[in-house]
Amino acid sequence: MKLTPRLQAVAALVPEGTVVADIGTDHGYIPVYLMVNRIARRVIATDANSFPLQSARETINLFNLADRITLRLGDGLSALAPDDEVDVLIVAGMGGNLITRILGQGLHQLETVRNLVLQPMSQAGEVRRWLAVNRWGLISEDLVQEGDRIYEVIGAGPESQSTFNLDSQDPLLEVGPLLVSCCHPLLPDLLQQRLATLARAAAGAQQSDSRQAQQRQVLLQQRTEFLEEVLQWVLKQRE
Ligand SMILES: C[S@@+](CC[C@H](N)C(=O)[O-])C[C@H]1O[C@@H](n2cnc3c(N)ncnc32)[C@H](O)[C@@H]1O
Repeated sequence: MKLTPRLQAVAALVPEGTVVADIGTDHGYIPVYLMVNRIARRVIATDANSFPLQSARETINLFNLADRITLRLGDGLSALAPDDEVDVLIVAGMGGNLITRILGQGLHQLETVRNLVLQPMSQAGEVRRWLAVNRWGLISEDLVQEGDRIYEVIGAGPESQSTFNLDSQDPLLEVGPLLVSCCHPLLPDLLQQRLATLARAAAGAQQSDSRQAQQRQVLLQQRTEFLEEVLQWVLKQRE
């Protein structure tokens, strides 16, 4: 079974021999990949909706893995039981706000978890801020491209077992401290995409001269200057 680059980058952060929960599994490709490649010992695959869960069931049946992958319907971590003893929690392919809501509403289910593998489709800075506030540190960060789109993948662990402790006030949370420190080859492209989005938003804000629009322009300008500074720094390191 071959995964797309995004899903492959998610699966790559799962340590061998672990019990994995894949929250919002949809098609079920990650659980099947982890079992076929003998990475996970056991997988619990959950989804909040029955249609995607049925899709996961079909993938799992195709690979005769129904006795090795447990499927559950449920909202976020409420689908997990304390005796699941999950080592690795995957939450991928969702907006950052949904990911932080799922984690925040299931704090007690995270007690056994040693690795979080998070792949936010947006608001990755909010995800890193949540990790910092809740005393999770970074283990790794990666970027991966599919077509024009660049995806962020974040591996986190409890602060005592992570390689990089986060500061909730660090402006680099927006960009990814480990992506910056390793000058990830895709980081300049990601920053340029973000700068283009900010430029469009600034053009929109200039259409109005209300006080709110002016405040927004100042914020957008500050973010633009910060991202440009990071971009110049990264480009210089890569010369
Ligand atoms: C875009 S898909 C991502 C599927 C897969 N994880 C991936 O990365 O390709 C998002 C899935 O999350 C499920 N979902 C959304 N909110 C959820 C929640 N609160 N708890 C569990 N699953 C949820 C949706 O039903 C959908 O199947």
